[in-house]
Amino acid sequence: MVLFVNACIRGEQSRTLQLCRAYLGAVKRAGTVVREVNLEQLHLTSLSAQKVAFRSQLQRRGVYDDDVFDLAHQFAEADDIVIGAPYWDLTFPAALKTYIEHVSVDNVTFHFTPDARYEGLCQARRITYLTTAGSRLTRNLGYDYICALAEMFGIPEVRYVVADGLDAEGVDVDEEMGKARAQIAQLLAEDGIEP
Ligand SMILES: Cc1cc2nc3c(=O)[nH]c(=O)nc-3n(C[C@H](O)[C@H](O)[C@H](O)COP(=O)(O)O)c2cc1C
Repeated sequence: MVLFVNACIRGEQSRTLQLCRAYLGAVKRAGTVVREVNLEQLHLTSLSAQKVAFRSQLQRRGVYDDDVFDLAHQFAEADDIVIGAPYWDLTFPAALKTYIEHVSVDNVTFHFTPDARYEGLCQARRITYLTTAGSRLTRNLGYDYICALAEMFGIPEVRYVVADGLDAEGVDVDEEMGKARAQIAQLLAEDGIEP
């Protein structure tokens, strides 16, 4: 199962979503089941003191079947993860950070070793991170952060597709999107999937 974390907040207008659909359409045609978590529709709220306390008392009692852990279990059990997120404010939309607060759960997606190091508990073999940006990027702190998170969660590989410079004057958006689609075709080819 591929878990699609959809942080393309602008929905049908989102160019990042177009890239996600190009990738996931091919994955589905090849017979893989894709489950989507749509963060614009989910309206998660960030962790409050009360929610942290509620979660912590469940964790202390070893109770992990409460609904509050559903997203974390789903993330931990996915075989493969696709994150689609536009480049916002040097990273990604806050909805994605809020989602990460919900999935980052000690003893579900990671745990601490006796010498206080992270050890990942996620099944996924990789994360594919798809994004588009208004400016030309020399670095992407959102992607860097996802790489660090993957390490904490025990996910060995993170792949990256970007169409950048899309809001710059004179840029041929179709051409830039075409280059990103070519990157996608390359990733699919590595998996033996027809684009
Ligand atoms: C709230 C917001 C914040 C943005 N922040 C940045 C930014 O920090 N750097 C940048 O290059 N582009 C930024 N952009 C432009 C987007 O990255 C760009 O338009 C992108 O293609 C939007 O993706 P979408 O079509 O999937 O929504 C921002 C756009 C929005 C709406």
